[in-house]
Amino acid sequence: MAKRDLISMEDLSREQVELLLDTAESFLPVLERDIKKVPTLRGRTIVNLFWEASTRTSSSFDLAAKRLSADTLALKASGSAVEKGESLKDTAITLSAYGPDIIVMRHPSAGACQVLSANTDASVINAGDGKHQHPTQCLLDLFSLRQTFGRDLSGMKIWIVGDILHSRVARSDIMGFQMLGMDVTLAGPPTMMPRGIGEMGVGVEYDLGRLKEADVIYLLRIQQERIKAGANFLSSLREYSRLFGITTARLHPHQRVMHPGPINRGVEIGADIADDEENLIAHQVFSGLAVRMAILYRTIVGYSDVSSGGEVL
Ligand code: CP
Repeated sequence: MAKRDLISMEDLSREQVELLLDTAESFLPVLERDIKKVPTLRGRTIVNLFWEASTRTSSSFDLAAKRLSADTLALKASGSAVEKGESLKDTAITLSAYGPDIIVMRHPSAGACQVLSANTDASVINAGDGKHQHPTQCLLDLFSLRQTFGRDLSGMKIWIVGDILHSRVARSDIMGFQMLGMDVTLAGPPTMMPRGIGEMGVGVEYDLGRLKEADVIYLLRIQQERIKAGANFLSSLREYSRLFGITTARLHPHQRVMHPGPINRGVEIGADIADDEENLIAHQVFSGLAVRMAILYRTIVGYSDVSSGGEVL
């Protein structure tokens, strides 16, 4: 099997993104059956290394591999030899002795997936590395958008609101949204906006005065775990919520809300929006399963059968 890493959205062309989304769509009927399993990846081995907390990404990658009949092996940092000081390089060499086809990894350090890839013949899929990239989140977001608004997303206006500086989701989503022709605006406190980000061709706003222009509002939580103790990015969460929190009062009827999760109710998102069935948050979680099935499948079989339109079953 050829090694096909997915570490950044830069690893994918627009055609490959569209093929992945088509492939995910073709897996949807499997997820509606009583027996939600196909033999597609029988005999393949997928290792899940989650060295940073995760609910959605870890559970959906595990379930996606099982739905495709692959053998799975999960290892968390806690309880593994990492606690005894084993390095990522040596962990990679050790696990590669089992001949895995794919290693999925979440890690607190940006660039960890490149280190892993350099030390294994398995394909590496980035499930989130520090504040660098979260490409599979971007792909599931694109899938939810396409399922909700139709295949052509060009010209849609999406605002990403919150802690852009510490967000790997924002970095991947900006690339993916722009790749499919969306008009991206970032909004948040100046202290949480990366310097020079406007050079990526995005709008930059420091308040929500023009929020009504958005078709979709993509909320981000404040990434407390990436803010060094003592650093002062916000005067208070209450102040942040007053300036950037989204409640029904701030929303126009045509606007839809997205959030990668986990949400912080009462901070970036009001409980009224979090519990509103019009938001796309639960749909994003559902999309994660079909999209990660497609990613595992395409990582193994490749992207060359574009003429199939992504049909796999
Ligand atoms: N969106 C996301 O990555 O969620 P988890 O941290 O729960 O995986």
